[in-house]
Amino acid sequence: MSGAIKESESAAEVVAPKPPLLRMVDVCKRFGGVQVLDKVNLEIGDNEIVGLVGDNGAGKSTLIKTITGVHLPTSGDLYYKGEKISIHSVKKSREMGIETVYQERALADLQTIWQNMFLGREISNKLGFLNIKEQKRQSETMMREHMGFTSKAITVDTEVEFLSGGEKQGIAISRALYFNADLIILDEPTVALSLSETQRVQDFIKDIKRRGHSAIYISHSIYLLYPVCDRFIVLDRGKVAGVLYKKDVTMDELQEKMVNLVKTGVLE
Ligand SMILES: Nc1ncnc2c1ncn2[C@@H]1O[C@H](COP(=O)(O)OP(=O)(O)O)[C@@H](O)[C@H]1O
Ligand SMILES: [Mg+2]
Repeated sequence: MSGAIKESESAAEVVAPKPPLLRMVDVCKRFGGVQVLDKVNLEIGDNEIVGLVGDNGAGKSTLIKTITGVHLPTSGDLYYKGEKISIHSVKKSREMGIETVYQERALADLQTIWQNMFLGREISNKLGFLNIKEQKRQSETMMREHMGFTSKAITVDTEVEFLSGGEKQGIAISRALYFNADLIILDEPTVALSLSETQRVQDFIKDIKRRGHSAIYISHSIYLLYPVCDRFIVLDRGKVAGVLYKKDVTMDELQEKMVNLVKTGVLE
């Protein structure tokens, strides 16, 4: 008996369990009298793509805004790589390696591609002047190698307003990958896009997985989420109604569960 205890102790010494990339513990968010998030507990692992699903108004966007520092939780704690996040802000979450791609315009339309790539993290030289040449050079690499932009008509000097919706989201995702975000959050990134543009965004999400990063992907469409996600967290009226692994549920079953949840209020 004592031998068994010793054995497990030494095993614990050798392989200390790695904390999840992100952990939310009993996170609540109220707006005035309205409880939008109600004791949310969840984890996001390394190199995991998690689909966050739930009806309109379930609290999905609010949930991710507590992760990205847009909203402070009313109560509860967030841990990133095992460390409790104390002072939280959009700037801080970005510095920690969390990037967000929203459905709304995340880019400055009147600025060029290279300016957008380095928006908020411009490279300066020793004298404090902007190093435009270096920013353009790196943007060029990002465009051709990470984003597969092959068209000669689009250069780093192209203003973003001339790009398609899919290309804009591509820039937002590539920028996050390029700057090594560990966790990329996508909140309905395809809402305003055509079918072919949507497919491009799907490819970018597969790229997040391939490059070893993690993502939280929010979409109304199970058909978009299912092929690229490893796991699904179901949010219902501010509460986590359940967590489903892809291996345990087919796409049709997941779709059916979501429809039933809206009808009956129960995930089964
Ligand atoms: N800033 C806010 N102030 C007041 N209520 C809000 C605010 N943001 C969201 N809500 C409310 O919180 C609920 C959840 O919204 P949201 O997180 O946007 O849901 P989802 O993204 O799942 O559609 C909705 O009822 C919404 O009206
Ligand atoms: Mg939303």
